[in-house]
Amino acid sequence: MLPNSELILAIESSCDDTAAAVLKGRKVLSNCIANQAIHKAYGGVVPELASRAHQSKIIPVVHQALSQANIDKNDLTAIAYTQGPGLLGSLLVGSAFAKSLALSLNVPLIPVNHMQGHLLVNFIEEDGINKPKFPFLGVTVSGGHTQLVLVKDHFKMEVLGTTLDDAIGEAFDKCGKRMGLDYPSGPQIDKLAQSGDPYKFKFPIPNMKDYNVSYSGIKTAFTNFINRETQKDKGFIKKNLHNLCASLQYSLVQIILNKIEQVARFQSLKEIVVGGGVAANSELRSQLLARKISHKWKVFLPPFKYTTDNAAMIGIVAYYKFEKKQFGSLSDTSESRLKY
Ligand code: KG4
Ligand code: ZN
Repeated sequence: MLPNSELILAIESSCDDTAAAVLKGRKVLSNCIANQAIHKAYGGVVPELASRAHQSKIIPVVHQALSQANIDKNDLTAIAYTQGPGLLGSLLVGSAFAKSLALSLNVPLIPVNHMQGHLLVNFIEEDGINKPKFPFLGVTVSGGHTQLVLVKDHFKMEVLGTTLDDAIGEAFDKCGKRMGLDYPSGPQIDKLAQSGDPYKFKFPIPNMKDYNVSYSGIKTAFTNFINRETQKDKGFIKKNLHNLCASLQYSLVQIILNKIEQVARFQSLKEIVVGGGVAANSELRSQLLARKISHKWKVFLPPFKYTTDNAAMIGIVAYYKFEKKQFGSLSDTSESRLKY
């Protein structure tokens, strides 16, 4: 076990959030995020703008994390950063910063896989968070990924199924954009759906035999449906916004739920850990909790602050890497498609 005095600064910059956290052992002392509002105007993340924004935000966000944790940078025992997967330009800002700081403080550097972070977030020691037992089914649902992962231990992970095209969060965001909602649309669709009818409109739910999922069919069906209806009535979206959001959300969630049931059954897995931005979705959360009794599942849903991209999740992976002395070096490269 790590002595309690170990203090890890973790940096996450894989997409459009610049984040820094300080962990003492498995406890989070601070978890700071600077969102990049600039992408809203473009309806999606613009990679070049994301890297530039990381450059201006990284120093303030690290200062904030150190000051909220009430420590000096010289107290740090290691610097962790997201090595991948993600946008290369964004990753490079975080890795260059982490490498320089580790070099100047003469402390170990710990490169972390972002996806492992989403899956291990439940190992943070905090009231309200329970640790899952291995092996478990890890489900990552975000703007960039939709994966079903067999997690055998902290570092042995095997992707059983994945999306063949769009990620679930991407489907939320693109359909939201078609309805005129701001980016990212997932949280707004979730909110608007609260007072809508999930059965009002029907969208196709693919039934694939293997462990993979697909989200591009439903996205196209949704777009075609909206195009057809708005040709007949220009005010269609406005008049039906709540029902559209509820019906779309129901179908998007149903696709991943069916797959979770299939994989859990065939792999005899009873512990389900869900991570990534879409894990905040209220329909997904309530459907999982509703099914856990009949399936005898244990469902692990991280608190909202740890579902969307954050640096605490990078810190918890770094904790386990530190324990095994799995350190990186200055010559490690950032990888946009890093595997487990
Ligand atoms: O994990 P994350 O912060 O970044 C990526 O690695 O992609 O996930 C962001 C995604 C976006 O697509 C956003 O629309 C979605 O998570 N999201 C939600 C909700 N909150 C965030 N989707 C549905 N319902 C939500 N409540
Ligand atoms: Zn993520």
